[in-house]
Amino acid sequence: WGQNGHRTTAQIAQKHLSKKALKRITKLLDGNTIAVGSTFADEIKSDKAFRGYSKWHYVNIPDGKTYAEIEKDLEENVVWGIEECINKLQSKDTEVKDQQFYLKMLVHLVGDLHQPMHVGRAEDRGGNDIKVEWFGEKSNLHRVWDSNMIDSYDMSFTELSAHAQQLSKSEISKIKQGSAETWALESQSLAKKIYESVEDNRNLGYRYMYDWFPQLKKQLQKGGIRLAKILNEIYG
Ligand code: ADE
Ligand code: ZN
Ligand code: ZN
Repeated sequence: WGQNGHRTTAQIAQKHLSKKALKRITKLLDGNTIAVGSTFADEIKSDKAFRGYSKWHYVNIPDGKTYAEIEKDLEENVVWGIEECINKLQSKDTEVKDQQFYLKMLVHLVGDLHQPMHVGRAEDRGGNDIKVEWFGEKSNLHRVWDSNMIDSYDMSFTELSAHAQQLSKSEISKIKQGSAETWALESQSLAKKIYESVEDNRNLGYRYMYDWFPQLKKQLQKGGIRLAKILNEIYG
């Protein structure tokens, strides 16, 4: 996601944190919110010292395969990165500076895992190489999902998170089930439908918003609820 997507996911997560987790996390982030920290992983992308982390933002799973089937052939990726962050944050040996790093990284990666095009095809770099028009402007399928749709909706991340659908306790506990690996499969199957939907028409606009924005919002909400689950397990 772009900035708005990450901040919305984090803001939704914050509302689902336990009191204890919220307190410990706010202290670790020197009083900042996870929404502010959520874009850190993109801010360091241009810094050579952090180049190795660019593969942590996505995973490409071939059609018809599962993550488990191809795991040993994969380089570092978003599913792996989430597990790595969780392990570092659960370890007693991780220094405070590194805890801050892995916490902000975790917040970001759980968001990206829910952007379907971050679990897209390798050959078009998750839709980056699929040219489309967004309300007449040049764009690509990846960017439509990262930011074009969210920015066209013209709501701040606080408004967007406040507009998240009201869910029952049982709906929330259903969403919490699974792990990064199974959530990746959900994104993968959404990505498949998204690829199919641009085969006929690459001039995207109102109709595309109507068809897909509700599903995008759902992904942001699921990401937030699942991020909170992980953080409550670590800090709760
Ligand atoms: N960003 C850069 N390369 C990517 C890929 N292969 N899949 C998804 N997102 C990407
Ligand atoms: Zn992206
Ligand atoms: Zn990212």
